Amino acid sequence: MQFRPASRAVGMEYAIRDLVLPARELERSGTKVIWLNIGDPGAFDFDTPEHIKRAMFDAILEGHNNYGDSEGYIELREAIAEREKRKNGSDIDTGNIVVTTGITEGIQLLLGAMIEQGDELLVPGPTYPPYSSVTKYYGGKPVPYRTIEEKNWRPDLDDIRSNISERTKAILVVSPNNPTGAVYSESDLREICNIAAEHRLPIISDEIYDMLTYGKKHVSPSTVSKDVPMVILNGFSKSYLVTGWRIGYTMFRDSGDSLKELKEAFLKEARARLCASNPAQRAMVAALKGPQTHITKMVRALRERRDYAVKRINEMEGLSVAVPDGAFYVFPRIEAPGWKNDRDFVLHVLKHGHVLFVNGSGFDGKYGGMHFRSVFLAPMEMMEKAMDGLQTALTVRR
Ligand SMILES: Cc1ncc(COP(=O)(O)O)c(C=O)c1O
Repeated sequence: MQFRPASRAVGMEYAIRDLVLPARELERSGTKVIWLNIGDPGAFDFDTPEHIKRAMFDAILEGHNNYGDSEGYIELREAIAEREKRKNGSDIDTGNIVVTTGITEGIQLLLGAMIEQGDELLVPGPTYPPYSSVTKYYGGKPVPYRTIEEKNWRPDLDDIRSNISERTKAILVVSPNNPTGAVYSESDLREICNIAAEHRLPIISDEIYDMLTYGKKHVSPSTVSKDVPMVILNGFSKSYLVTGWRIGYTMFRDSGDSLKELKEAFLKEARARLCASNPAQRAMVAALKGPQTHITKMVRALRERRDYAVKRINEMEGLSVAVPDGAFYVFPRIEAPGWKNDRDFVLHVLKHGHVLFVNGSGFDGKYGGMHFRSVFLAPMEMMEKAMDGLQTALTVRR
């Protein structure tokens, strides 16, 4: 007998971790695999800055091991408000900031508060998978809008317009983007804000990679329009190198009161899940207020690795890749014939090149198909080995 699980959970997908099993199997048989599937800088040579580790330690030793407020530790919310003022010139009151267990929990709480059966969320195609899978989990429908590969994956504004329906609840912007690395221009963002205003829709803006750009600066939609209601998600995982501590935040930015009820529903859910990690929240105050030099160093190293990956991939016959302006992903197109689909390609590269990537269709069936995503977080020597492995796999006939 089987106890039947709910279909909403059975349908849950996360391509980034789906191909871990065949990679582990290969490693068990004695082959070393280079894992370029997960966007975790700490898994490579980027370590959490010492003063942040110390602050976490101190918070624990000082006894901050109990539950905290559901909205988050007030000193951290104040530090976040200051940071947003500094970075984006925004005046976001601490009452409109909620600290979450990573952005991931912010996505769950937000879409849980927003999506009813049949509601639609406009998402970039391709996009970071949880926005689609959590929307589906709540009975909604993610509707991808095209992003244009030939134009460095900038958003197709006409496609955004034509995909808006009576059921659309919000437009999602992820810039810098995962998986394409696109950094949206101010003029594209202005146009997206105009579309949102015209259709009275809020914008959801995921800004987790806002400090990780290579030349082209990140612009937050919140600086482009002061009127369009926005829910902004950000977090510490990537820029402060604490992916395992699980701390992020959600901000409600509204010149009127159209987000009031949504925020109240979000807060009800937040109370029901108690709080984010108390010591980690205190450590994040030190992260925001302490030295930021590790970010400059990280960006410098990542730029070199990005340039190398892009050059090698574009030299390989059968692959081409647009230059990412932010985040730490490349999203090459598979042009070589011979593979059933992109998953088949990724499994082939794993088997013959011993490198694990993520199949592009995991980020969107239509716009991600026949692509794959690689991180360029690995040190140069490892990046070289990975690119050699990819090249070898391309020469092995099917
Ligand atoms: C666009 C985007 N948002 C959110 C997350 C998850 O962030 P967190 O660690 O804060 O849950 C990721 C992780 O890869 C991401 O790429």
